[in-house]
This record gives sequence, C-alpha cells and structure tokens, in this order.
Amino acid sequence: MDPAFYIESIPIYGRVFLSPMANFSDSPYRKICRRLGSAFSFAEFVPAETIAVRDPDYMSMLRFEEEERPLILQLFGNNCDTLAAAAEVAMEFRPDAIDLNMGCSVNQIAGNGSGAALLKNPMLAAQMIERLRKTVPVPITAKIRLGWDDASLNYLEVSHILQESGIAMLSVHGRTRAQAYTGLANWNAIAEVKANARVPVLGVGDILDYEDALTRIQKYGVDGVLVGRSAAGNPWLFSALDRAQVQPEQILEIMLEHFRDMLKFYGERGCILFRKHAARYVKGFIGADALRTELLQTKNAEEFETAVRRFLNSQPD
Ligand SMILES: Cc1cc2nc3c(=O)[nH]c(=O)nc-3n(C[C@H](O)[C@H](O)[C@H](O)COP(=O)(O)O)c2cc1C
Repeated sequence: MDPAFYIESIPIYGRVFLSPMANFSDSPYRKICRRLGSAFSFAEFVPAETIAVRDPDYMSMLRFEEEERPLILQLFGNNCDTLAAAAEVAMEFRPDAIDLNMGCSVNQIAGNGSGAALLKNPMLAAQMIERLRKTVPVPITAKIRLGWDDASLNYLEVSHILQESGIAMLSVHGRTRAQAYTGLANWNAIAEVKANARVPVLGVGDILDYEDALTRIQKYGVDGVLVGRSAAGNPWLFSALDRAQVQPEQILEIMLEHFRDMLKFYGERGCILFRKHAARYVKGFIGADALRTELLQTKNAEEFETAVRRFLNSQPD
C-alpha cells in the first residue's frame, strides 16, 4: 500500500486519526485506536514548563509503546527557551514528531499566552517553531484554530507563517478560540488552508463517523482528519464500523482490555481514571446507568471485572 502522505520522511498509511484529547488520548487509548485503524498516534498536550524541569507527574505522560508509532507528542507553552528545553527532554522518549499546541481555548492556558493565544502572536509561534527545528531532529508540526475570534480570523496568515518557519504538517480545528466548542466547525476555512498549503493539512471538527471522515476528506481536499469527541468510547470508528454494529461482547472485551492496560500504565489509579471511558463504552446498553453507578463504587480491579462480566451476561442476545 502506498502512503497516503508523508510527515517529512515519515510515511503515513491512512487518513483518519484519533485527535489529541487531554485525559482521553493517553497511551492505553491510543494503542487501541491505533490497532483498530487510527493511522498514527497523537498524544494529549503536556505543559512545556513541567517537562523542561522533569516534573515526574508529567514526564510519565510522555511514555508510549512502540506499537503506537508513528507517534506525535504535543507540547504547549509561551516561551521559546522553555519549549526548546522541554522538546530536548521529550526526545529521550523518541517520539516521531513534536507538535506545538496553538488551539487550546481554556482560560488557564489561552489566558496565559499559550495554546490559542499564540494565534494572536504568530511571530512568537514562528520563533518557537524555528527554535524547535534547531533543537530536535524530528519533524515539528502545529495544531491551530481559525483565529482568536470572528474579528481576527487570521488562519491563512498563521498557516503561511508557520510553513515559512518549517512546520511539516498542520492540523486545523475549524473554530475560533472564542467559539470554544460551540457552533459548527467551518470546513470551508479548513479547505482554504489546504488549498494554500505546501505541507499536509489535517481538518478537525465535528466528524461523526468514518463515513463522515471520508466525505470531508474528499469534499474539502484535506490530507486527513483528526477525530476527537466522536472517538471517545468508540475506537471502532477507525475500523469504519458503526458503533451500533459492534456486538456487545466485542465492546466489553475491548473495554476490559483497555481497563487492564490502564492499570498496567497507571497502577491502581487507573481504576478511577478508567471510569470516564467505561461510561462511554456502555452508553446505549440496557442497564447502562446501573452499571455506571456500580463501577463508580468498585474499589479494585477484581470488583470492576466482575461487575462488567455480570453486566455482559445480563445483556439480551
Ligand atoms: C476533552 C478534550 C480534550 C482536548 N485536549 C486537546 C489536547 O490536549 N490537544 C489538542 O490539540 N486538542 C485538544 N482537544 C481538541 C480536539 O483535539 C479537537 O480539536 C476538537 O475536539 C474538535 O474535534 P471534534 O469535534 O472531533 O471533537 C481536546 C478536546 C476535548 C473535547
């Protein structure tokens, strides 16, 4: 099979990918999505300032497994030196590429000059990209929104500047920072970025399923798409399956595999961290609410597995 496109010299065999999502697209979930068809792995964002000083709580977020490759680590920050220091540390984990987050809309981050705030300061973003390129040997990519708000839709200018600075790929979420997650993503704007770009462009926003992903790739000409919220609790999306077609046994098998991997990755804490995933997996099942409540009360892995098995046996054929 020919690659769909390249991130510099890295061949990418597919066009639909799991989007980075804090607290969701960690190594255990990325592994499942990658196996079921997401054509690369894009890790959730990590604050550069914590990695630059090797804060162990955050360093562990950079871990991944070989089967996830190609693997992109994402950093956010507001300072070139810190970002470069963090990228150097991050390289010890041997990622295939490093992405600069320029899209995060939450106040804590965008209000602090990081994430989407970089859209208001593209020259700083350019310096960051140039510095990252000088510091680490892997491709540097960026993920942006369309602008800070409707009055400052500078996506074409930002894309141009970032390409001049040497990015190897650009992901575009078709909303402004002011929109956060409201309204609909503007895919015509994403298509405009692609039409003017020399590097691969990925479109992001509101993709519902695999079919929708393919339709948007064709209609808007992007090289690929990132799927975020629709892929939470639905890794089968990447296998072109409709969640409703997947047998309950298959769903619960993947859920248990995911759960065990969470324990392996996080230790006992994985039990609590898995709850949000569990709620998504069981959505739509008969008795899902009761199981959710039961899972919230389980204290260890055995109780958790027993509850899930009992639930599975109670499902009608
Ligand atoms: C819970 C959550 C966490 C997110 N975390 C990140 C992140 O760490 N890095 C990032 O670039 N985007 C992050 N995003 C944005 C998504 O990657 C994506 O751009 C956005 O959700 C739009 O795509 P969707 O409509 O398919 O969800 C996050 C979104 C959500 C809902």
